[in-house]
Amino acid sequence: MSVSTERRTGSLVVDNIGELVTNDPTLGAGVLGIVRDAALLVVDGVVVYAGPRTGLPSSEVTGRIDAAGAAVLPGFVDSHGHLVFAGDRSEEFAARMAGEPYTAGGIASTVAATRAATDEQLSMGVARLVREAALSGTTTAECKSGYGLSVEDEARSLRIAGRHVEEVTFLGAHVVPADYADRVDDYVALVTGPMLDACAPYATWIDVFCDRGAFDGDQAREILRAGMARGLRPRIHANQLQHGPGVQVAVEVGAASADHVTHASDEDIEALASSDTVATLLPGAEFSTRAVYPDARRFLDAGVTVALAADCNPGSSYTTNMPFCIAVAVRDMRLTPAEAVWAATAGGARALRRTDVGHLGTGARADLVLLDAPTHVHLAYRPGVPLVRSVFRAGARVR
Ligand code: NIG
Ligand code: FE
Repeated sequence: MSVSTERRTGSLVVDNIGELVTNDPTLGAGVLGIVRDAALLVVDGVVVYAGPRTGLPSSEVTGRIDAAGAAVLPGFVDSHGHLVFAGDRSEEFAARMAGEPYTAGGIASTVAATRAATDEQLSMGVARLVREAALSGTTTAECKSGYGLSVEDEARSLRIAGRHVEEVTFLGAHVVPADYADRVDDYVALVTGPMLDACAPYATWIDVFCDRGAFDGDQAREILRAGMARGLRPRIHANQLQHGPGVQVAVEVGAASADHVTHASDEDIEALASSDTVATLLPGAEFSTRAVYPDARRFLDAGVTVALAADCNPGSSYTTNMPFCIAVAVRDMRLTPAEAVWAATAGGARALRRTDVGHLGTGARADLVLLDAPTHVHLAYRPGVPLVRSVFRAGARVR
């Protein structure tokens, strides 16, 4: 997968689909809009028919795939990643598994390694992770800066991210870098001034880590509003390490998504339910920091839109694998398999305000995952098993 991937011209039929997940309740059963014994017709990278095989328009096609009774899903929409970095923090992970707590402090070591890396090294790192994600079914990815934390290093992180993913987010407000220790106000002024000037041309979104050891609610609001004044759209890291004001700030500024929300009060959940802000849950982060999982049922039962994302980064969640996230979310966050699959596809699209991906209705980009399994339930039922057989993005095969 890369942003330069062309739409596949010509037409493609995927036939003999045992279970087609469309995410379009007008096309099939339940929230997943499931059609059994289904077929898909794709023309020039766009879905033109999704429904029963018996209704497939007869036309000359340039490609035909026999799904042999397997399940077909929309490609995963991974709405939260930190892919521009150098180095790894496996020793920090091992220490955590031996009992050390996770703090945001380890970010500093990735910042040092990232600043020391060449553009080419960083670009190759992003390409590797985007490719890895595509092999497990991710067809739309978001990528943040946040390991540069200087004007030049944030701007180059975003330039590099934009070569590889469609959704790019400025996260200069990840943590306060060591060279600004005890000068937080000066760092906020840098982020909202010269850094934003240098970074805004390369990003669509602005994000801030609103948590213990990072930025407080007032700083987060100021940073998001400054980005919005420059045309960036807000999203936020909220309440990962402790309860704080992040969710309320998200709703107040109209953020597309509040991410992590590991700690959420009833008021936070009510605020999300009465807003358009998606709650993006990141099971890889709780898994890899051995934290307590948020209970997705509280969000869903209150009417909050929930997304699942991988949060790939070298510190708290070094995975690109959305099937893994689905399995953990089902097991430990109490989503049903159907809710988890929806959250990893349509939910991610909502969190990125995209209508062209995350579903397989007519007009959708033909981003498809073919499983080596008869239903979507197997993604959680068979954890750790590589069930993603083929992946198509805009009708072009990526796996
Ligand atoms: O989303 N929470 C802040 N940022 C990342 C972790 C960054 C790191 O530890 O390097 C996250 O989990
Ligand atoms: Fe993150």
